[in-house]
Amino acid sequence: MTDKVKELISECLRARDMAYCPYSRFPVGAAILTADGAIITGCNVENASYSLTMCAERTAVQRAVVEGHCQFTAIAVACDMKDRFIGPCGACRQVLMEFGPNWTVYLTKPDGSYKETSLSELLPLAFTPDDLTEN
Ligand code: THU
Repeated sequence: MTDKVKELISECLRARDMAYCPYSRFPVGAAILTADGAIITGCNVENASYSLTMCAERTAVQRAVVEGHCQFTAIAVACDMKDRFIGPCGACRQVLMEFGPNWTVYLTKPDGSYKETSLSELLPLAFTPDDLTEN
């Protein structure tokens, strides 16, 4: 594991500890690695009107864009599940795809172990910005 991947995974675990999830009690953290080497984190932020809940991955994307980043190379996602790797929900996969298919996705466990996959593997045959221009 490179130092950058190690840092990305420890940052997503740290972000998970910031989750605001009084309803599900299912904390999630995400950490995005930008093309220029910055790490931007997010956690899930729930709401009493349940459907307004924001996932950790989308919180991280929104923070990254506000901070001027639109080119991403990897995302790491953490939750509390110790015995299996959990992937981003479908809505988050679509939002990540907005910024290209070639992200590395690290699914992590609390002990820091991880499974490496890719966004195109998680969301095959995706609808992308290119589809709006090819008609
Ligand atoms: N959650 C995320 O933050 N990311 C995902 O990809 C899946 C689900 C959050 C939303 C909600 O606060 C909690 O996990 C339970 O669904």
